[in-house]
Amino acid sequence: MHLDGGKRRGFFLTLEGPEGSGKSTQAQRLAARLVAAGYPCAVTREPGGTRLGEEIRQILLHGTSPIPAADALLFNAARAQLAAEVIEPALDRGEIVICDRFTDSTLAYQGYGAGQALDSLRELARFAAGGLTPDMTVLIDLPVEEGLSRKFGGPDITRFESHEDVAFHRRVRAGFLALAAAEPDRFLVVDGRQPPDSVEAEIAEALLSRIAQRDKVPRDNAGRSVHESGTASSEPERAPLRMNK
Ligand code: TYD
Repeated sequence: MHLDGGKRRGFFLTLEGPEGSGKSTQAQRLAARLVAAGYPCAVTREPGGTRLGEEIRQILLHGTSPIPAADALLFNAARAQLAAEVIEPALDRGEIVICDRFTDSTLAYQGYGAGQALDSLRELARFAAGGLTPDMTVLIDLPVEEGLSRKFGGPDITRFESHEDVAFHRRVRAGFLALAAAEPDRFLVVDGRQPPDSVEAEIAEALLSRIAQRDKVPRDNAGRSVHESGTASSEPERAPLRMNK
């Protein structure tokens, strides 16, 4: 089932950024904070998050290098499985889903980085994720050299970190910034050079305020927002988040 029923209750947050931006650490920290505040929360990642997705991850990150189009198809195959098996059911249960990378990574890496057409990549991601789009996306931005040096020598060096050149990663970073500039309502851009505590505090404040803002919108019985005229919107907005108290 895809996101067109108008009855969704959760909140979908994605974390994006170039190599070494600290997304995975922030995903865990944010989840701990949200759970402590009483919100049900699920953390997942791309590529991965399902059995098939983790198998595809091995091929993508540690196998032989596919051509960019095959790359895009494999990332989206993992995404299709993750959206249907993990993200949508969690949103239906009213959870906040934090996903470490999502469609914007394909646009930044395979699009801006590897030169695949952005329109085709968007269409492919729409097909894979069935129209599922994040409620909010945090871009943790930092200079390419700094990010790569944070990762260099780490335990899980992937094909992208070891084989791609610095110019590729510069295009990826510029791509992320362009995507954020094009959708300022969805994106929050955070300076990843700050200490992790400051990054966490900045994201948490913005996230909690967006959730609170969303919960203020009056709803009809089907969970759709009700405008001042009293008619329900046809937009598939979501009902207030459930809190475990
Ligand atoms: P990972 O080890 O998870 O890196 P990170 O901690 O930076 O997220 O590896 C994921 C790699 O896959 C990363 O280099 C970005 C790349 N990637 C794409 O090229 N396209 C995509 O659609 C996604 C989701 C990731």
